[in-house]
Amino acid sequence: MKATLVTDGVYRLSANVDNILFEGMWPVPNGVAMNSYIVKGEKCAIIDGVCAWDGVPETLLAQLDELDIDVNDIDYVIINHMEPDHSGWLDAFAKVRKDFTIYTSERAKPLLEAFYRITDNIQLVKSGDTLDLGNGRVLAFEEIPNVHWPETMATYDTKSKTLFPCDAFGSFGSVADDAPYDDTLQEEHIEFFEREMERYYANIVTAFSQATQKAIEKTKALDVKIIAPGHGIVWRRHPDRVIRSYTRLASYAKGPARAEVAVIWGSMYGMTEMGVEPVIDAIESQGVKTRVHRIPESGISYVLDSVLQCSGVAIGMPTYEYKMFPPMAAVLDEIGKKKIMNRKAFRFGSFGWSGGAQKELTELDERLKMKWDYLEPVEFKGRPTDEDIALLRKRGVELAKAVKIWALGDVS
Ligand code: FEO
Repeated sequence: MKATLVTDGVYRLSANVDNILFEGMWPVPNGVAMNSYIVKGEKCAIIDGVCAWDGVPETLLAQLDELDIDVNDIDYVIINHMEPDHSGWLDAFAKVRKDFTIYTSERAKPLLEAFYRITDNIQLVKSGDTLDLGNGRVLAFEEIPNVHWPETMATYDTKSKTLFPCDAFGSFGSVADDAPYDDTLQEEHIEFFEREMERYYANIVTAFSQATQKAIEKTKALDVKIIAPGHGIVWRRHPDRVIRSYTRLASYAKGPARAEVAVIWGSMYGMTEMGVEPVIDAIESQGVKTRVHRIPESGISYVLDSVLQCSGVAIGMPTYEYKMFPPMAAVLDEIGKKKIMNRKAFRFGSFGWSGGAQKELTELDERLKMKWDYLEPVEFKGRPTDEDIALLRKRGVELAKAVKIWALGDVS
């Protein structure tokens, strides 16, 4: 990876990582970029850092060499967000640079001590505070709590009108050295990052969609020409495009989302599975697309992405020991904890000696305040009868129609 010039006096340092589970759980088959930025006035600041994973801090320090920047020339370390994918390199940095001043939010201070035993030379800032780097370059700070941790803030370079929002406006996806900006990418590659953005948002940010909406409003109040996030590409030509994408994704958490249905199903012996195709056929017969995931085979990262994108959810799940099919219970619990609310929903499934899945599903919806709007369920003892299949088709059509009305206002 190479350091690249973003705009006059602003440089992007970056490392791609692809051999990890992000946050220890989210697959990144297309990698993820960890971005850091150098901003130079008379003084020099580094904004955001990178993780401590093998080779990444060394990559960052090598890129400083490329720019002919000695670490001793860095006067200020701006920490927008304390999650270790952005702060983990501090240990490595502190070994080669002894006396630097950290600018960060008040809420970050206890985490600096807890994670890195750093207690000195910390300048606490709040919204509206500034740092003058000289040569007409002033950094302004804006707290954007809970995007993605409570301490998070954004930094705005008033000279170049570049916003450094850390996790906000980020995405998964490795970034090529020769094309790290939207204006250096073909449309198909920008769309690749927008797709990576959707799963990144669903996995990392969606639980904080309300806070994200507030951060978007703060962003809109600034004269932003460039958005330089902690992950993904830098938006120089169309910062408005990534703002629109995030506005859309944040709104999906409460819905409506796309006029599509996520079909998530699991089956023990193939009885519940017999209902899946009829439901999918019925939904698609109404011109509504489906995104289908078998549980537990499909990773939860991808299920969360689909459920966030879809206004409707069809759940195929048998009763297991008087309760929900356990892998589906785990998935639904996580969907609820991610605060993906207000879906049009329908559940069907098989039972043997007794039911119980439906009762627990209702309890889960209430406990997590999901407010999903369920159609009458279809449960069948053992394998579904012809009458059950007919009823499943009917419910599939009802679900598709409800989704179209909600997402599109379509009452045809
Ligand atoms: Fe990219 Fe919340 O850290």
